[in-house]
Amino acid sequence: MIRFYHNPHGTDRIDLPAPSREPHVFHRKLPGYAPTPLVEAPSIARTLDVERILVKDESDRLGLPSFKILGASWAAYRAVEERVGVRLDAWDSLEELRGLLRPLSGLTFVTATDGNHGRAVSRTASWFGLQSKVFVPAGTVAARIEAIESEGAEVTTVDGDYDAAVAVAAAEAGEDTWLIQDTAWPGYEVVPGWIVEGYSTMFWEVEEQLVRLGYPHPTLVIVQIGVGSLAAAAVRFYRARGRESVPYLLGVEPEGAACVFESVRAGKRITIPGPHRSVMAGLNCGTASSIALPLLMQGIDAFTVVDDEGAFEAMHHMAADGIVSGESGSAGLAGLLHLHAFLEQAADLPPLYENGTVLIISTEGITDPELYRRVVPE
Ligand SMILES: Cc1ncc(COP(=O)(O)O)c(C=O)c1O
Repeated sequence: MIRFYHNPHGTDRIDLPAPSREPHVFHRKLPGYAPTPLVEAPSIARTLDVERILVKDESDRLGLPSFKILGASWAAYRAVEERVGVRLDAWDSLEELRGLLRPLSGLTFVTATDGNHGRAVSRTASWFGLQSKVFVPAGTVAARIEAIESEGAEVTTVDGDYDAAVAVAAAEAGEDTWLIQDTAWPGYEVVPGWIVEGYSTMFWEVEEQLVRLGYPHPTLVIVQIGVGSLAAAAVRFYRARGRESVPYLLGVEPEGAACVFESVRAGKRITIPGPHRSVMAGLNCGTASSIALPLLMQGIDAFTVVDDEGAFEAMHHMAADGIVSGESGSAGLAGLLHLHAFLEQAADLPPLYENGTVLIISTEGITDPELYRRVVPE
């Protein structure tokens, strides 16, 4: 049975300021920056009888296989700016930035991760000439740990789930050990807020790409949800004051870790206890971010929950359209397949993609090569 929840509190407009361009300006200065491709998925569109499906392909973002570096790098940059006490605009290359940050060279970034965020924090630390320590939940696959270590991080596996890893990372934080975490809780909300801001670069790029391609604004945007920071970025972007075209937003979570789905239904933050066993490792989070959840309660129109089989099917569809997308990366499409099946029974939903454009974000490429090869053989 498809689990689908139409959010009765979802609203088109929230009183949010227009998103800032600052993170995008910052990301443009990073080495190897290029907008990630916005590609058509014609075979998926044909299967669903939708006019146009566009996929924002984050499989190579600043040299890493997921979008997460956008949040980690901007948040870390804002954090060091606060420490030095001045805006650090006066640099054009990383060498220059490292020079400005030399007084902070004893600093270590610490974080917890299911994989992608930790790798992004470590990459940022080495860009800035700093150190990093990363905690991962029990059961994290070796390939993901090795990828984080390859960035120069010290990686420790915690005997517990993602929430346990976050608690251990938070306990490590101190004067010269800064927590750069992509989820928030009461008392720790500033850095995660910057992470949400950092993700806006993806949506700014989509705006520019739509103009260049001559396509209309999306009528439906789908975002996968772990702790909800990415989805919060979508809400901040598409629900802000002054925006002319407002798409329907669908949030997608994995079976067994649907903490936002359950929290929105209950009207309060609910933790889904681990272990979380979905293959969608990036989405295996038991507790929503405290700053994201209120935005999602107001700004996401509907939620659905997908299982591993759904993710595998979506990976196949992506591959058929030439898009290399991992388990969490394909979850948005898995959610669209659910919505499609659900629409056939639901008369009360608006016409979501009739003559419209659907935007899916493939948030990662291959992060577990063994599993990818098993699911999508060459
Ligand atoms: C590949 C991928 N997609 C989506 C997400 C979900 O992002 P968030 O935790 O901000 O909801 C993550 C989080 O780690 C991820 O790694």
